[in-house]
Amino acid sequence: MNYQTIEVKPLAGNIGAEILGADIANLTQESFAEIHQAFLDHMAIIIRDQDLSVKEQASFVERFGPLIHDPFIKAPDGNPELLIIKKEENERYTYGDGWHSDSTFMEKPPVASFLYAKEIPPVGGDTLFSNQYLAYETLSPGLKKMLDGLIAVHSAIGMRDIIAAGKYTEDRSMKLRTDEWDKMEKVIDAMVEHPVVRTHPETGRKALYATRSYLKHFKGWTPEESMPLVNFLFEHSIRPEFTCRIRWEPGSFAMWDNRCALHKPVTDYHGHRRIMHRMMAEGDRPI
Ligand code: SIN
Repeated sequence: MNYQTIEVKPLAGNIGAEILGADIANLTQESFAEIHQAFLDHMAIIIRDQDLSVKEQASFVERFGPLIHDPFIKAPDGNPELLIIKKEENERYTYGDGWHSDSTFMEKPPVASFLYAKEIPPVGGDTLFSNQYLAYETLSPGLKKMLDGLIAVHSAIGMRDIIAAGKYTEDRSMKLRTDEWDKMEKVIDAMVEHPVVRTHPETGRKALYATRSYLKHFKGWTPEESMPLVNFLFEHSIRPEFTCRIRWEPGSFAMWDNRCALHKPVTDYHGHRRIMHRMMAEGDRPI
């Protein structure tokens, strides 16, 4: 792709790029179109040195789809679309730890997630990404044939145990939306079906969509039958050659395509503070 308004520097051989020359708060139609193309081509992109208000971040995110409110974590007053991912020096818990695609327990999971770095540890706290087109394409023809048409049941039911175990307590700086308990329960109890191999609505390419975090079992299979295959697919989906690593600085703004990429925050900065502003835009029903 020949970009006219931005420079696009790949971060690794198979996923990720840094975009130079873009100001998210003041984009022309042409540079937005090029950023969108870079996002489709590279799946995870980072743009450094941005100065964004919550409103400016939200306006950019809305160009991709309606804003999603996180169903579990309390948002700051007046900004229900904003999730503040926060880890204090003394906290052990890292939000979103483990490889995943965001919120696959939703019928219309986010097309993309958008993370804006506010406070970053002196070293560590990077985020990893993995290319799920390649994860699919590198499977054997026999396994691809079996997975094409297979449906997975996703659910956030595990949140019930996490909450019951008191893991969201006063000493965790991210708080639950306890004032909206009924709404939260509805989300927790929902069982949502998605294809294990999805077709990206914009690129037309097939990607593996079998992230282990909320996948409970394959439709028509027991959990015991499903899990060995889920575990195999998981290990395969995060092979180092499918991945890249984003190193943050305050003011870095990144976005990733949840339809074809997994991500994982790296938990290697205990004793330091990390604060990120995340928003998500609603996507289509996976097909
Ligand atoms: C997430 O899973 O959305 C969090 C990513 C991060 O904090 O790096």
